[in-house]
Amino acid sequence: MDKRENFGTRLGFILVSAGCAVGLGNVWKFPYICGQNGGAAFIVLYLICLALLGWPILICEYAVGRASRHSTAKAFHVLEPKGTRWHRYRWFSVAGNYLLMMFYTMVCGWMINYALRMLTGNLKGKNPDEIANAFSNMLASPVQMTIFMVISVLIAFGICALGLKNGVERITKVMMLLLMCLMIVLAVHSLVLPNMREGLAFYLVPDLGKITEIGFGNVLFAAMSHAFFTLSLGIGAMEIFGSYLDKTNRLAGEAVSVTLLDTFVALTAGIIIIPACFAYGVQPDSGPSLLFITLPNVFNHMAGGDIWGAAFFVFMTFAALSTVIAVFENILSMTMEIFDWDRKTAVCRNIVLIILLSMPAILGFNVLSGIQPIGAGSTLMDLEDFIVSYNLLPLGSLLFVLFCAKKNGWGWDNFIREVDTGKGLRYPVFIKPYVRFVLPLLIIVIYIKGYYDMFSKYGTTSLIFWMCVAAVFLALIYSFASGKPKE
Ligand code: PHE
Repeated sequence: MDKRENFGTRLGFILVSAGCAVGLGNVWKFPYICGQNGGAAFIVLYLICLALLGWPILICEYAVGRASRHSTAKAFHVLEPKGTRWHRYRWFSVAGNYLLMMFYTMVCGWMINYALRMLTGNLKGKNPDEIANAFSNMLASPVQMTIFMVISVLIAFGICALGLKNGVERITKVMMLLLMCLMIVLAVHSLVLPNMREGLAFYLVPDLGKITEIGFGNVLFAAMSHAFFTLSLGIGAMEIFGSYLDKTNRLAGEAVSVTLLDTFVALTAGIIIIPACFAYGVQPDSGPSLLFITLPNVFNHMAGGDIWGAAFFVFMTFAALSTVIAVFENILSMTMEIFDWDRKTAVCRNIVLIILLSMPAILGFNVLSGIQPIGAGSTLMDLEDFIVSYNLLPLGSLLFVLFCAKKNGWGWDNFIREVDTGKGLRYPVFIKPYVRFVLPLLIIVIYIKGYYDMFSKYGTTSLIFWMCVAAVFLALIYSFASGKPKE
């Protein structure tokens, strides 16, 4: 008998899935990547990548989950033909989930820290230098960052400990609904700020010159990687929610709802942030510090800024936490399946593990700041982010497509049967050749081109080194995908 829990309601599934997708990617990374890559021109490419790359892969993840009723720790064992090696991907996905959380919990802690500062008026009336100092002091203090990281880990695991329906579903649902309300209020407020037009123009009118200046390969690689990141694809973080799903609805439609919700939040986050920057004469392309330095300054100039600031960082905290909860749920499920632990044991052990694993990212900003692993000025967090976002997510996604499409994998017919079970939007069959042949190729080409463009500026030796790294990653995927079924 299948004892696995199911979601209580369809809305629960959609909001928990969207909660996993909606996170720092939408509210923190998207606005500044968008600023750095030329605003609207980047958005166009990003939307194309979402539709052409993200959506079909999300369907693959849901299908593998729903058919196997296991996390990626066991799903491939269940579905693959005997004698093949797809199941080795399990370690790849385990690594991906932990690596992501190694820096995500820290940044989630920053959000909680700033939400509290805003609520208590800690940054009120400070001049720009003082605000910048507050941020660098936080980064310089391992103790402060550790405390807030631990808080976010305990809250999220505390919720997961209550179980799927009682904890994850019930609480994420409320959090996501509150997030939407806060977001709409903030966006409406942003649209009545002075100079809003200029900001919206930067955000919504494409400047193709900008793309040529930055390099088309770079922008496309950024757009593709971000599409995978924002939809949480490639490491089984969405697959898990497929595994808790019943067969009532067809998967293509569910994937559309989640993709649209995620995109809506990202675009609205931009509407909240970018016009606010223009209104107070600051450039929105300032990178990761945008949220923590630029925006608190903006709030200080705004009428009622402390209230808007508090609402804003509470919104950010919900976005980050809903993702941490979702990924922890996946980590719990994976470790429960691999080691046969019950939920309580898995929660206790993973709390300790995740707290320890989150330390390098924290120390990378202070004690270990001498380690600059991917170029001058980079931190350990950048390395972790690079491994996950630029490698594990696109390549894991590649593996999912190959698995669903190839004869030595699960195979197209099994895949489509699962996807089309239930009511609602059917899978558009005419895209079959695209998904089987073009999509995997696209991922590989954009991946290699991205590496090339990113590292060619550091000189030949460095380029050769990094191209070898890319080749090793690709070879790994090839080794998982190339096994021959036993008769
Ligand atoms: N989608 C999440 C965000 O936008 C990040 C994420 C990536 C979560 C991969 C799980 C897996 O913040």
